[in-house]
Amino acid sequence: MTMMRIGVILGAMALAATSTGAFAAGDAAKGKTVFARCMACHKTVAGQNGLGPSMAGIVGRKAATVAGFNYSPAMKGSGLTWTTANLDAYLTKPTAKVPGTRMIFMGIPKPEDRENLIAYLATLK
Ligand code: HEC
Repeated sequence: MTMMRIGVILGAMALAATSTGAFAAGDAAKGKTVFARCMACHKTVAGQNGLGPSMAGIVGRKAATVAGFNYSPAMKGSGLTWTTANLDAYLTKPTAKVPGTRMIFMGIPKPEDRENLIAYLATLK
């Protein structure tokens, strides 16, 4: 009886530990694979813009401040700073967070995908 109980408890603890870890910080390595959905338009190297602006240093940066990129009036007027919370909201549904944005992207529905993606974005300097 006790052996089984202990097994169940340990299993539950391991599960709790992994899921808390993922939500607390996000997994940048997993986030890199999520970023594949962005790569058609965004590069990670500073100064390299594509259809969208470079993602270098995006976390903590003010919106619409990449030099040489032609932002929409909506993005220029958003007044946002790309905190993790604002990125999370924008990447959930870009047109809901910044109505009129030129970023044609449906959004990332899964919270853990966004969490991991933002952890990856934070590694881009
Ligand atoms: C179809 C092309 C396209 C895709 C795919 C795309 N974006 Fe964008 N993104 C844009 C464009 C264009 C803008 C500029 C929007 C504007 O000016 O309104 C933008 C803007 C942004 C901004 C604001 C940048 C700034 O300097 O203020 C962030 C953050 C962003 N994108 C993140 C992402 C992420 C992360 C993904 C993948 C999950 C993604 N985008 C997918 C085209 C795209």
